[in-house]
Amino acid sequence: MNKKIFTERRSVNFFDTSRELDKETFNSIMDLASLTPSSFNLQPWRVIAVHSEKEKERLLPLAWNQPKIKEAPYTLIIIGDKSGFKENAAIWNKLEEGLGKETADKLKGMAEGLYGTSDERMTRFALTNGSLLAMSIMYAAKAFGVDSHTMSGIDYEAIKKEYKLNDSEEVVLLVSLGYHDNSKELYPRGYRKTGSEFIEVI
Ligand SMILES: Cc1cc2nc3c(=O)[nH]c(=O)nc-3n(C[C@H](O)[C@H](O)[C@H](O)COP(=O)(O)O)c2cc1C
Repeated sequence: MNKKIFTERRSVNFFDTSRELDKETFNSIMDLASLTPSSFNLQPWRVIAVHSEKEKERLLPLAWNQPKIKEAPYTLIIIGDKSGFKENAAIWNKLEEGLGKETADKLKGMAEGLYGTSDERMTRFALTNGSLLAMSIMYAAKAFGVDSHTMSGIDYEAIKKEYKLNDSEEVVLLVSLGYHDNSKELYPRGYRKTGSEFIEVI
């Protein structure tokens, strides 16, 4: 495994506004990130990629006016679907091709039992899966030499309204992608707990 994608990934506050992220690299990052794990392989997410100047202006005030929105070539709105495990979710058709109908039907029942019993569980389903996608995108980006910055300093409700998300959809996070502006120094990497500080082996 290439440890560098961990040791060199930083939350890049300053993006180089003179460097575009080409479409091919952008697509390759997304394809690589799509290998991320998800509950029952249901992939309950979609992403709005904010790229044009006009769209950046639209998102900016909904994200605490964080300059990254304007400076990064892309900012992704990661959206999780609370109902992405339901029997009628379109992804089941695809999964059925590999699993066979009988197994798929069994899994549908299991997923409903696990996630469908309360709104809290449905929300958890959307947010945990969407968060894993966001992290995978950031590491996939680094594998292509592309920098990132994730943000939860955002107005979730306003974004949901502005982009007309379905009732079952939740905004998970924003992820900006691009290249660090090397003329601006990043803060030194912050303190990290060591494994032994946060792990209790039982
Ligand atoms: C869930 C999450 C939300 C974050 N939200 C913001 C944000 O809104 N604005 C910001 O400047 N940084 C944000 N960050 C970046 C963190 O401050 C950063 O990851 C942390 O300080 C560690 O720095 P590093 O990623 O460079 O190692 C967020 C990070 C995470 C994981």
